[in-house]
Amino acid sequence: MSFTLAKTERLAAILSQAPVIPVLTFHDVKTGLACAKALRDGGLTVLEVTMRTRQALEALKAIVDEVDGVTVGAGTVLEPEHVQDAIVAGAAFLVSPGSSSRLMAAGSEAPIPYLPGVSTVSEAMQLAERGATFAKFFPAGPAGGPAFLKSLVAPLPGLHFCPTGGIDLKNAPDYLALRNVVCVGGSWVTPEAALEAGDWAKVTALAKEASGLKARPGA
Ligand code: 3PG
Repeated sequence: MSFTLAKTERLAAILSQAPVIPVLTFHDVKTGLACAKALRDGGLTVLEVTMRTRQALEALKAIVDEVDGVTVGAGTVLEPEHVQDAIVAGAAFLVSPGSSSRLMAAGSEAPIPYLPGVSTVSEAMQLAERGATFAKFFPAGPAGGPAFLKSLVAPLPGLHFCPTGGIDLKNAPDYLALRNVVCVGGSWVTPEAALEAGDWAKVTALAKEASGLKARPGA
């Protein structure tokens, strides 16, 4: 099992590209393509396409093939078997909300970087023990919010987080101000109503606001 330096460096570069990673759920390819372009035009260039729908892999592949200027990861990867599917579709990184030991093995051995999820100190320690530098903190709000993450800076200084779950434009700065937060994830930039209406100007406007948030320099 290995979180190699090369993959960690790749993940660091991906996570520091933009302050916010949109967490996306697509039911069709056409919406996925238009939404990816709208987000990119608003300055959000790292996208997490969740594996929650039958069309997710197809949408991910279409975005990778057809939308310039974005880095696309596969989110909500729950089964080790899905790791290979995501790689074949062209995912640049993998994200899971938590991590089973089977998934941890498959994810960390994958040729692309893996961002596993944690929500407790012990899970964070287990990750640190395995050599990981980055974790998703999920569900960020219910699991303790910025105060919880701030408490991990002193005991676990080597771990950096992408908190996700219950984050919006208003509370994102509380997370982004922390020393151990590299970026945040969230679905607020793609409201369901805007996706259904094809209101891509709205998505771009929300992305612009989000991309204007400041991550801590050097995070
Ligand atoms: C995720 O899987 O990361 C969450 O569904 C995103 O959380 P949010 O919808 O509260 O932003």
